[in-house]
Amino acid sequence: MSPLMYVGDILKSLDRIPSGVPGLDNVIGGGFLPGRVYLVTGPPGSGKTTIGVQFLVEGAKNGEKGLFVSLVENPKIIIQDMLRYNFGLLGYIQSKTIAFHDLGSHLLRAEYRMTWNELFNAILQLIEGEKAKRVVVDSFTSMEYLVKDPENKRWALGRFIRALQELEITTIITSEMLKGESYTDEHYLADGVIVIHHFMRNYQMVRALQVLKLHGVPHDSNLKRIRFTDEGIRVYQEAPF
Ligand SMILES: Nc1ncnc2c1ncn2[C@@H]1O[C@H](COP(=O)(O)OP(=O)(O)OP(=O)(O)O)[C@@H](O)[C@H]1O
Ligand SMILES: [Mg+2]
Repeated sequence: MSPLMYVGDILKSLDRIPSGVPGLDNVIGGGFLPGRVYLVTGPPGSGKTTIGVQFLVEGAKNGEKGLFVSLVENPKIIIQDMLRYNFGLLGYIQSKTIAFHDLGSHLLRAEYRMTWNELFNAILQLIEGEKAKRVVVDSFTSMEYLVKDPENKRWALGRFIRALQELEITTIITSEMLKGESYTDEHYLADGVIVIHHFMRNYQMVRALQVLKLHGVPHDSNLKRIRFTDEGIRVYQEAPF
């Protein structure tokens, strides 16, 4: 690579990829960085999958191909649940701008258990097949129970993230929050970590989002209130209480 191309590549990283989540771009310095991997983590039903779908829909509006790799839920159920929002999702699926792949059912059926590396290679093949520019892998946590070499996670994940960066694929991986304070490899290796929290206040559920880390971008790490709307999850600039 010539030094000039290298500079060009570095400057390209100043572009921003709109997240598709109203209000979120204000908190993350204008949008995601192209070719980076972001982790969205939170408790059950907090909106991780919804944010992933919003991210793909935003790309699809501009004709960018999106790939949703499902490792737990049946994509049909996810699509059914998402029809209540004004995403126009069915149109994008019909035009093949967004593709859902049920990798989980394939893995559960297979007699042979994959290694981390084989699993990531399978995802990379799907990305190549779909020529996707935006990718969601939902949920990452379940992979821990599917692979036969859990000890190789950090190494294989590092390679996977490198490969996505080389291909300039902007990716959201989701993970479940397991044991309160314990951080996992994906927290350290991802370029950004967004945590969804919820609290009970006067018998009311209050939802909030926090940008825990964001490589190379000054950002606001304070809790921001979020709400489910007809446009999916919306982030407000205000504190949750
Ligand atoms: N209008 C709403 N008000 C409050 N909560 C809502 C509303 N719409 C959806 N939800 C919540 O959002 C959840 C679905 O969001 P989503 O599937 O994105 O969450 P998730 O974090 O991916 O969940 P899981 O951990 O089960 O994968 C529902 O189970 C419900 O709890
Ligand atoms: Mg989910």
